[in-house]
Amino acid sequence: MTKRQQERWEYLKSHGEADTLLLPCASICTPRFMNKDVKRVTVHTLRRMKEAGEKISMLTAYDYSFATILDEAGIEVLLVGDSASNVMAGHETTLPITLDQMIYHAGSVIRAIKRALVVVDLPFGTYQGNSKKALSSAIRIMKESGAHAVKLEGGESVQQSIKRILKAGVPVMGHLGLIPQSIYKFGTYVVRAKQKEEADQLKKDAKLLESIGCFAIVLEKIPSELAAEVAASVKIPVIGIGAGNKVDGQVLVTHDLLGITKSFKPRFLRRYLDMYTDIKVAAQSYLQDVKSGSFPDESEQY
Ligand code: KIV
Repeated sequence: MTKRQQERWEYLKSHGEADTLLLPCASICTPRFMNKDVKRVTVHTLRRMKEAGEKISMLTAYDYSFATILDEAGIEVLLVGDSASNVMAGHETTLPITLDQMIYHAGSVIRAIKRALVVVDLPFGTYQGNSKKALSSAIRIMKESGAHAVKLEGGESVQQSIKRILKAGVPVMGHLGLIPQSIYKFGTYVVRAKQKEEADQLKKDAKLLESIGCFAIVLEKIPSELAAEVAASVKIPVIGIGAGNKVDGQVLVTHDLLGITKSFKPRFLRRYLDMYTDIKVAAQSYLQDVKSGSFPDESEQY
């Protein structure tokens, strides 16, 4: 940071505004693409990234501790996904998680972040078929958690809900392809839109989401050529999960990438750690130390 920036930072900090403008996180991390003085990521940042051909990184976060690390790492978008229903609560599907529970997770993430854009999933049953209910669900998320945007699943079928939320000034991210809240309609988690009819509908839905004002779209588990075609056909960023590399960014569930959810092994997943094993080994070492009486030792007591 230059001296002038340092002074400006000090001034903003003393006026309680430091969070909203320049953030001196250069000392924490400076990936190649980042300026030294990192500004908050907004929906406009993502659009500019797409225009500049810079890929967008997005990961899930459900709690304060993980969100702190991911934000410091420089991940641009943190998704408080309804996958919390599986990952955090152990449900088989995303359907059971409630709006109150999503708000709890989102609030924890918001308290951690300094730079990332935080997007929160509207859970199943809070927006489908009733646009007034959709708006009040979105408003609760924004007001009670402090999140920056919401995400909801579907195209044409939920357009009234999306339009109403957007009209209230809440940014909306779409989600097409494999939409886990409709798992009982699909019957399985296999790749979607392999057939022409479904692919055509998906392309139509993506154009519709763009035209009504969504700021980005997640495409989940569809053929990479189809995803590439969609990404090239819209100006808004398209973020893929199991949708190949010719899209504008990637999203993964953090617990999958870290190897915590060890039985989940889809082809699209790249594991960067084996934390299931590491945590288990650490817990076993602790257990042994407790049983043997070697923990705590002299230096670990008062
Ligand atoms: O809930 C979630 O984690 C998601 C991602 C898989 C995109 O929607």
